[in-house]
Amino acid sequence: MSYTGHFRVWRGDAEGGELKDFEVEVNEGEVVLDVIHRLQATQAHDLAVRWNCKAGKCGSCSAEVNGRPRLMCMTRMSVFAEDETVTVTPMRAFPVLRDLVTDVSFNYAKAREIPSFVPPPGLAPGEYRMAQQDVGRSQEFRKCIECFLCQDTCHVVRDHEENKPDFAGPRFLMRIAELDMHPLDAAAETGLDRARTAQDVHGLGYCNITKCCTEVCPEQIHITDNALIPMKERTADRKYDPLVWLGDRIFRRDK
Ligand code: SF4
Ligand code: SF4
Ligand code: FES
Repeated sequence: MSYTGHFRVWRGDAEGGELKDFEVEVNEGEVVLDVIHRLQATQAHDLAVRWNCKAGKCGSCSAEVNGRPRLMCMTRMSVFAEDETVTVTPMRAFPVLRDLVTDVSFNYAKAREIPSFVPPPGLAPGEYRMAQQDVGRSQEFRKCIECFLCQDTCHVVRDHEENKPDFAGPRFLMRIAELDMHPLDAAAETGLDRARTAQDVHGLGYCNITKCCTEVCPEQIHITDNALIPMKERTADRKYDPLVWLGDRIFRRDK
């Protein structure tokens, strides 16, 4: 079954743009990306759209459909009424390059700021051994496809460009949590307290656990409950632990 769908698609570049109306054929079983491709093939040949896998795995077709951050290739047209106007806009938290394509380099810069895995001393690569029960908690975070929809939806940066320098965003705070839970990570032995750094350097304190990031994650990762809240609890525990407090005071006096 086919019908003519009504679409409103943002067209423009870094200088500015506007929503344009289109009528495009929609066929049974199609997703939003199918329709965007048909629009590109039949009416708007220079429409810029980023995509690769069309299977929800490369994380490149992120956009906002009716204002909600979504993967276009995983958003079925059947969730919309046939007479509904479907609006497709670029991710709002990142600068537009052209049409539906945004510059997501903010995220790569944040990724580089996270200290990487510290190999355990005395073990060569190939000698690492981990038990499943020790990696079970953080394995969920490895499902991330880096679509950056969580980064786009988080209110801390969505409308607050000024917060970007101090806030890594849910995807990268989750990366810190993952490394903090890693059974072989030897960061602590080098004096790096990952959870404390999340709070002091990467802006964990900005997060007020609204769970919006979790709601839009196409991999259904429990970002807030399983990564951010446990890390907040650990930093709070340490902050208010009298022994840690005493240790900090002595250390500061020694210095
Ligand atoms: S839970 Fe925290 S990181 Fe996630 S969207 Fe809300 S404020 Fe942002
Ligand atoms: S955590 Fe989820 S929403 Fe965020 S970048 Fe990874 S897959 Fe995308
Ligand atoms: S095209 Fe790869 S996730 Fe949509």
